[in-house]
Amino acid sequence: MAKRRLIQVLEGERLTPPPIWLMRQAGRYLPEYRETRGKAGGFLDLCYNPDLACEVTLQPIRRFGFDASILFSDILVIPDALGRNLRFVEGEGPRLTPITEEEIGKLDPSRGEEHLRPVIEAVRRIRDSLPDETALIGFCGAPWTVATYMIAGRGTPDQAPSRLFAYRAPDVMDQLLATLADMSADYLLRQLEAGADCVQIFESWGGVLEENSFRRFSILPTKRIVERVRARRPDAKVIGFAKGAGALLEAYKRETGVDAVGLDWTVPREVGQRLQEQGTAVQGNLDPLRLVAGGRALNEGVDAVLDAFGQGPLVFNLGHGITPDAPLAHVEALVRRVRDFKG
Ligand code: CP3
Repeated sequence: MAKRRLIQVLEGERLTPPPIWLMRQAGRYLPEYRETRGKAGGFLDLCYNPDLACEVTLQPIRRFGFDASILFSDILVIPDALGRNLRFVEGEGPRLTPITEEEIGKLDPSRGEEHLRPVIEAVRRIRDSLPDETALIGFCGAPWTVATYMIAGRGTPDQAPSRLFAYRAPDVMDQLLATLADMSADYLLRQLEAGADCVQIFESWGGVLEENSFRRFSILPTKRIVERVRARRPDAKVIGFAKGAGALLEAYKRETGVDAVGLDWTVPREVGQRLQEQGTAVQGNLDPLRLVAGGRALNEGVDAVLDAFGQGPLVFNLGHGITPDAPLAHVEALVRRVRDFKG
């Protein structure tokens, strides 16, 4: 079988048109997703039901023919496996029991194996059901991003509780991040084993950290994941998405060892272009709100991404997840415009 287009680009090839998928492509903007989630009961029931998780993973592929699918799950299944009492409150987001310093040394990562079995089963079913040419992306959250939810017990605008925790007890923070890194690496390895073509590490909250803290709490734990994955799968392709990392993105790429780098919509184009010149594939960059606006705003945004990065290894994507208010017609228009790109 020929290599899937996404993987070719992650290996540093330039393809025209570039492969395209969208972060959070299975989600509430799709009527068929809302229907399946209703059938499952709730969001977490959907994550742990291999048949339904497979179904919602395939929905955006059927509708838009993206080049890649992403396992339907959530980064917070790791703290859930650790017994942190994860719930999703309708219209508000995740809630967990905030973790204390004392509890961190007592976490039991061995709970992951059994707890995450349905997710791994979903990976197997998805690979069996996908068109041959469609890549399957596995994923996990980066330790820092996952830790921010474990410490605050919810999402917060600037992750102040975790930053404070890290200043007051940096060694305990290191310990939590190391536990999460090892557990996440083992989880990614199981996804690769079950049929994922590559994996993505979501560092959605890297941008709230000062430079030294970013190196210690984001780069180092991510490097730990990459090394642990590569020790067993030297050929594994890893995409690192460090939202808000800005000028630190080159250090992030170099020091973590990821193969490809996600770009949010605020990164200067020079940063992405320099990465491409060194042979690194970049992914993303379109502001998700341009997809909501549609029309000229969307067309200009798509053209700007293709113009900036279309001459190097590029995976077309948004700079962050698609929002529930993105109209289906705009997604269709986006896919058409990217596929019409002639280089
Ligand atoms: O299609 C896909 O991208 C695959 C599935 C996926 C989800 N979450 C499903 C989801 C992926 C890759 C994620 C990653 C994730 N989850 C991140 C990192 C990426 C990012 O967006 O920054 C984070 C921080 C989370 C944690 C999380 N999950 C939050 C904060 C929320 C609530 C906010 C929201 O969008 O509702 C979720 C819920 C969630 N995860 C939904 C989906 C489809 C919505 C749940 C619903 O159906 O109501």
